[in-house]
Amino acid sequence: MGKVLKGGTIVTSKETYIADIRIENEKIVDIGTNIEITGDEIISVKGCYLVPGGIDAHTHFDLDVGITVTADNFQSGTKAAIVGGTTTIIDFVNHVRGNTLKQSLEEYKNKTYNKCFCDYGFHMSISQWNENIEKEMEYMVKEEGISSFKMYMAYENLKVSDGSLYNAIKKSKELNVLIGVHCENGDLIDERIKEFKSQGKLSPFYHGEVRPPMVEKEAIGRLLSIGQLIDYPVWVVHLSSKLGLDEIEFQRKQGAKVIVETCPQYLVLDKSLYGKKEDKNFQGAKYVISPPLRKKENNLVLWNGLSQGNIDIVSTDHCSFNYKGQKDLGINDFSKIPNGGPGVEHRMLLLYNLGVLENKITLNKFVEITSTNPAKIFGMYPKKGELQVGSDADIVVLNENKPFKISYKNQVQNVDYTPYEGIQCKGSIEYVFLRGDKVVINGKVLDNKHRGNYIKRNKSSYGVK
Ligand code: URP
Ligand code: ZN
Ligand code: ZN
Repeated sequence: MGKVLKGGTIVTSKETYIADIRIENEKIVDIGTNIEITGDEIISVKGCYLVPGGIDAHTHFDLDVGITVTADNFQSGTKAAIVGGTTTIIDFVNHVRGNTLKQSLEEYKNKTYNKCFCDYGFHMSISQWNENIEKEMEYMVKEEGISSFKMYMAYENLKVSDGSLYNAIKKSKELNVLIGVHCENGDLIDERIKEFKSQGKLSPFYHGEVRPPMVEKEAIGRLLSIGQLIDYPVWVVHLSSKLGLDEIEFQRKQGAKVIVETCPQYLVLDKSLYGKKEDKNFQGAKYVISPPLRKKENNLVLWNGLSQGNIDIVSTDHCSFNYKGQKDLGINDFSKIPNGGPGVEHRMLLLYNLGVLENKITLNKFVEITSTNPAKIFGMYPKKGELQVGSDADIVVLNENKPFKISYKNQVQNVDYTPYEGIQCKGSIEYVFLRGDKVVINGKVLDNKHRGNYIKRNKSSYGVK
C-alpha cells in the first residue's frame, strides 16, 4: 500500500502544474492526473503547492566553540528543520587543529547516530594543511561520501593561510570536489578588534564596525584569484554584502568559477538591529553573526542576485546560542559574544513569504535555491531536490492561505529567541513528508522517531557559471 497526494500543484525549479503524486517504499513512483490508486492512503492537497523537501546546506549543530556549545544539538536542530520544511541538512564537521579528520568525523558520527529527525550529510572543515590532511581528504571522498570541505579566512582557531587555500583547492580539483570558504580577512578583524577595544568601544554595535563589507570583499577577491590560478570552482559561503557580490561579478568577468551562497539573515535583516553605539540593553547581541548584518540596501541587491541567478543557494548558517547564558558572555565586550544565530526552522517560510509572495523571486526560483541547486551542488540529485519518479518522496505541502506568526514562543529550535520575531507569514506548511512518511502536520512533528539517514554524497552535478 502506498500514498497518493491528490489534487495539488506540483512546483519544480522548471515547471508548475496540477497532478497527483503516488508514493511507495520511500520513493515517488508515479505522477499524473489519472494514476492508478489501489488500496492507497489518499491525502487531499487540493489548492496547495507541493515542493521538494528543503535542503539546508549550512548548519552548525552541537558545535563546540571553546567558550560554549551551540544551543541546538542534532536532535533539536533536525527537528526544527523538518518542522520548517527542510528534509535534509548538511552540517560541518568541526576539525580541531592537531586532530585528524577521521577523529573529527568519528565525533560527529557519535553526535548524529540515531539522533536526527531529517536526513543529513557532512561537509568536512579543514583548519590546517599538511600531507596527512591531504591524504585524508581522499579518504573522506572515497569512503565516507563527503564531497565538500570548508576552510576559513577568519577566526584564530580555524583560519588558514593563502598557501594552504591554494594547495587545498588544487587537491579539490584533483578529486573533483568542492571547497567552501568563509570569506573575511581575519588579520584585519583581529587588529580592528584590538583597536576598538582600546578606545572603549565594547557594545554589540561595534561587531558590525570591525568587519565592514570591505573585509568580506577583500577576502572574496583573494579567494577567487586563487581559484583562478587553479582554474577550478570554489564556493563562497554566507555572502552578506553588495560589495562582496560586486567583487564576485568582477572576478567572474575575469574567468573565476564560483558557487555563491547567501542566507535569510542577509536578505531580511539589517545592521540597525545592532542598536546604537552606547546602547546598554545588549539586544544587539542576538544578531552578532559573522559576517555581520549590513545596511538595508544590501538586502535587495542580494534578492536580485538570487532572481538573476548570480547567487545559487540560500542556506541558514544556523549556529544558535541562547541570549541568556551564552550571548551574554560578551556583555562587557562584543568580541566575546559567541558568533551565530538560529534560522533552520524558518528558512523556507521566510523565502516563500518575503521572497515569493513579495515578488522578489518566483515560486520556481524558490524551489531552485532552497532544494534543487543544493542537491545538484552537493551531489544528491536527483535522489533529493526534485519531484520526479524515482526521487525520494521528500515533499513539503505549502498552503498559501495559512497564516503563521514567527515567534520564539512557538518554535522547536532549542534557543530563547529568534531573529525573525513577529514576522507575519501569509502562507505556511500543511504537511512534510520524509521519504514518504508523513512526519509533520500543521507545524507539529507527529512522533519522536529519529528517521534521519546519513547521506553518502556523490560529486557535484552542477554546471558552474
Ligand atoms: O557567526 C557565524 N556565522 N557562526 C558560525 C560559523 C561560521 O562562520 O559559519
Ligand atoms: Zn563561516
Ligand atoms: Zn557557518
